[in-house]
Amino acid sequence: MKQTHTNIQNWYKFQGRVDLPWRTTTDPYHIYLSEVMLQQTQVKTVLEKYYFPFLKRFPTLRDLGDAPLDNVLKMWEGLGYYNRAKNLHKTAQILSQEQAQESAPTLPSNINELIKLPGIGKNTAHAVAAFAYKKPIPVMEANVKRILCRLYKLKTPTDKQLWELAYGLIDKENAFIYNQAMMDIGATLCRPKNPSCKICPLKDICQGKTDPTLYPSKKKHKVPTREQNIMISVYNHKLSLSQRTGKFLHGLWGFPTIDIPLCASEYIGEVTHTYTHFKLVCKVYIYDKVDQEQEEYFYTEEIQKLAISKVDDKILKLYLDTISTNNY
Ligand code: ADE
Repeated sequence: MKQTHTNIQNWYKFQGRVDLPWRTTTDPYHIYLSEVMLQQTQVKTVLEKYYFPFLKRFPTLRDLGDAPLDNVLKMWEGLGYYNRAKNLHKTAQILSQEQAQESAPTLPSNINELIKLPGIGKNTAHAVAAFAYKKPIPVMEANVKRILCRLYKLKTPTDKQLWELAYGLIDKENAFIYNQAMMDIGATLCRPKNPSCKICPLKDICQGKTDPTLYPSKKKHKVPTREQNIMISVYNHKLSLSQRTGKFLHGLWGFPTIDIPLCASEYIGEVTHTYTHFKLVCKVYIYDKVDQEQEEYFYTEEIQKLAISKVDDKILKLYLDTISTNNY
């Protein structure tokens, strides 16, 4: 095992993504933010579009806790899984309140304390403790899981099994490098398809290297389709949007759904968006209003300032394309 640990360290020195900004900072808030963003989003997207603007807007945990949720959602716009932003905001509020006397509230270093905070699960707690507080404990995101499955030829392991193996494998003397390296090895060598086993620093101990893609076994779950009718009400070149109050995309602004399209409305097309558990198909209609009634109406430039979801953004684009090509 010692040799494998040395191989991993050497690999990281030359091939690792050593200058990712959340790897060169010691600020627990920055590290925590990166971990939350990276939970369901790729490094490239986080790096190029979200991490720096978010920190510029909310430089400290206290700034984040003091901000209105709408502003936080606006900075999260397009990243999806908006509960992450809401939990981040809630956690910032809780910690700012608990540490009201401190000049700079921060995150706890203890895993059990971290896990109690909204949106912090077992992996994020481990990652914050390991990266911000240099604890000699493993992290377990999807790439690391795949490596462990291949190393030990596991098709359908339980989380408990994986954590036990991760604790057994970690290089405790060089935990920070080991953990970052494992994520990079998973992302660049131990890929889901066509893994590069020959140049992998773990090849000497890998039990699955003769047939790596058998592990873990692929779950083939086809997601169900949900259909919705969307109504864009237009009044004086302005569009009606409302802030969602239900569970789905709560807090974001969007176009209203309707059961049955009004007969005077015009069908302009369909947009689709796939979420984790279902595919949403939206049939989009426009309807010219003669009076404003109670709804809130916005010019396109005003909509750009609201936090809206990817699917509503697609609907807006469809609308704008339609009116520009039809000379409305
Ligand atoms: N995914 C989760 N944590 C990460 C990290 N620190 N670097 C790269 N990808 C990650």
